[in-house]
Amino acid sequence: MLRMKVAQALKSGQDGQAVDLRGWVRTRRDSKQAFSFVELNDGSCLANLQIVIDANVPGYADAIKHVTTGASIAIEGEIKDSPAKGQRVEVHAKSLRVLGEADPLKYPLQKKGHSMEFLREIAHLRPRTNTFGAVTRVRNAASAAIHHFFQSRGFVYIQSPVITTSDCEGAGQMFQVTTLDLHKLAASGKPVNFELDFFAKPASLTVSGQLEAEIFATSVGDCYTFGPTFRAENSNTTRHLAEFWMVEPEMPFYELTDNMQLAESFIKSVIGDVLKNCEADMAFFNERIDEKHELLTTMQNILDHEFIRLPYTEAVELLRNSGQNQKFEFQVEWGCDLQSEHERFLTEQHFKQPVILFDYPRTLKPFYMRCNDDGKTVRAMDVLVPRVGEIIGGSQREERLDVLLERMKECHLDPETYWWYVDLRRYGTVPHSGFGLGFERLIQLVTGLGNIRDCIPFPRVPKSADF
Ligand code: 4AD
Ligand code: MG
Repeated sequence: MLRMKVAQALKSGQDGQAVDLRGWVRTRRDSKQAFSFVELNDGSCLANLQIVIDANVPGYADAIKHVTTGASIAIEGEIKDSPAKGQRVEVHAKSLRVLGEADPLKYPLQKKGHSMEFLREIAHLRPRTNTFGAVTRVRNAASAAIHHFFQSRGFVYIQSPVITTSDCEGAGQMFQVTTLDLHKLAASGKPVNFELDFFAKPASLTVSGQLEAEIFATSVGDCYTFGPTFRAENSNTTRHLAEFWMVEPEMPFYELTDNMQLAESFIKSVIGDVLKNCEADMAFFNERIDEKHELLTTMQNILDHEFIRLPYTEAVELLRNSGQNQKFEFQVEWGCDLQSEHERFLTEQHFKQPVILFDYPRTLKPFYMRCNDDGKTVRAMDVLVPRVGEIIGGSQREERLDVLLERMKECHLDPETYWWYVDLRRYGTVPHSGFGLGFERLIQLVTGLGNIRDCIPFPRVPKSADF
């Protein structure tokens, strides 16, 4: 008797093969001729496996009434070529065991579709639905594809710290980490003395592993981080999480154009792998999640065309002359941050494909980006994609000590607190570049899901960190 996963049985199970299967019941149907059909799912693939349980199976009468949606069962039986349409094989049970019942009056996941909002409230059960099973497998395939992309190019995986005392992005969105007793502090009315705190200075959850990645890029060479990052952005949008995963490659000797090339190859390679390795799940998203059923063509379109590259200044001109500017909620002018509506206009209406915008105004971007000679812009790049907008942010880094110090002053940062970062420019500095890809935004892109909260197992957003 071979223990098999449902995916394996459906793909390669042979007529007559004896199997042992375990999983959760999706549905049960009883036929008048004294047998039952059970749709079994064990999460290994989107499809269910049909189990035919004859009333002659030992214990049938007692057990079958507990074989309800959500219950877990173990089946021993034989694979048979299926006479039914749409499935290659089915299983004829020889034994049936109910491992765990699920009260049909209480089990929250009934057969018909539930709203995404409701499913977020039962995040402990939503992976049992078709949609979240598929998201989970696609997330897994995408993360394997990410490691594969970098590993096959000789990049070294670096684990950057989660707790930090430096703010990489300087956007003031950090979650503080402290062991000080806030109640006592408040009651004492005294000012906070961080010397008494765990790290003897203010500490936070990291917003990015980039600064640490730069240390390794300038020692072991091409490297990347892939880990959780945290931002206390109090924005309730469909594209922001307070905890999200970021992939941050950092490469010595790369200039901005090399960085763009890598970012484009990276996105294409990961999408290509997911399309190849998650065919059924991707077909499901195309049919059931994307209202226009255009997800697969959108993905293929991304693979088939070169990304547009456009300086920020030209993008602003284009948006202002688009005849659309009056209709935007936020009017565009040079020096303003582009809003999601502008990004979507460029990628969905104007170019109809991903766009890399570069050379942004220095006032919009963090201190570490390399200053251009025009005195106004920095070597920044944002990769924008249809449906999602910004999926990657990156830059060439400022490697010149004097310019970096000047720039830190301009950004009101104390070089003392970043002494080790500044040291990298003192000792053997080199041109280098890198970028950060928001992993959940990538998942949003490839699944077509409208809300980023459905692209991570347990979303953390303002006023909600359950599970
Ligand atoms: O553009 P960002 O802020 O860039 C950085 O953090 C750089 N240190 C990266 C680097 O150069 N190594 O963030 C990078 C990406 C964004 O493009 C977006 O995809 C994602 O991270 N991101 C978020 N994803 C979900 N929720 C949020 N609140 C996000 N903030 C940024
Ligand atoms: Mg950004």
